[in-house]
Amino acid sequence: MINRKYNGFLDVEILNLKFPNPLILAAGILGLTAPLLKRVVYSGAGGVVTKSIGLKSREGYPNPTIVDLGYGLVNSMGLPNPGLKMFIEELEELKGLKVPLILSIYAFSEEELMTMGKIISKLKAVSAVELNVSCPHVGGISEIGKSPELVKSYVKTLKDNLSNKPIIVKLTPNVSDITSIAMAAVNGGADALTAINTVKSMVIDIETGKPLLAGVFGGLSGPAIKPIALRCVYEITETLDVPVFGCGGVETARDVIEFIMAGAVAVQIGSAIARRGLRVFREISIELKRFLELKGFKSLEEVRGLAHRR
Ligand code: DHB
Repeated sequence: MINRKYNGFLDVEILNLKFPNPLILAAGILGLTAPLLKRVVYSGAGGVVTKSIGLKSREGYPNPTIVDLGYGLVNSMGLPNPGLKMFIEELEELKGLKVPLILSIYAFSEEELMTMGKIISKLKAVSAVELNVSCPHVGGISEIGKSPELVKSYVKTLKDNLSNKPIIVKLTPNVSDITSIAMAAVNGGADALTAINTVKSMVIDIETGKPLLAGVFGGLSGPAIKPIALRCVYEITETLDVPVFGCGGVETARDVIEFIMAGAVAVQIGSAIARRGLRVFREISIELKRFLELKGFKSLEEVRGLAHRR
């Protein structure tokens, strides 16, 4: 059970979904089984996003798949997942979840997305879908998120085949103009956006002289990318009136406030869990509430977008 006593006025309503606090588990972290997702909720998350699921199962890349640089993680898992049909068994166990469950999905073609949309429409446990068009190192996915035409077309295909569930599109920062991609997603029918997915990167093993990750390239997350993520949220919300989930390097209440001031409606937390454990949700909630009280804000809505004032 979420301990409401900690949260109080941290509640946010986004896409007609009630989040008891704005701290949401980001895709890819602990999101592959029902017991783990439940544990995240018990730890105080205001919502959860699953690991990205495709139509068919994928094994992912061989080890090593993750490197901790201290200031961030570079990971190259290769989208390992059991495939949608198998994952439905986990979702069945999550029907009574007390917070919104967002299903992260990816597809290699619009046909796959069409099929997935129809299946997901029937899944009661799923509150919303987050479309991952932005994994930086899996061929066939990373290209989608860099093209406004493809983004619009993929989102429209999902919209046409998904009934009664909002669509969130997770954007890549690996583009020269994220706002034009954001606009394409909204034009295709996106109800909200997540900014940002990981930054394309690599690590070299100087002993062997070879790339360290088996997948060669990976996605950088954690504190190193927070200023990039903030800039992206700010740029998007400067132009578009669409709910944006801030994602990238959130570790403290101060980070959350920065994202909300940049225009985000809520944040997603990933790498901080690897660094500090699941207690981050409760700890940040308490810190956040203290900040609002101290500054005399009555809700997060009063803080949202303050950085845009001229
Ligand atoms: C993976 C997928 C992502 O979207 C990302 O940002 C990083 C890694 C993966 O499964 O490899």
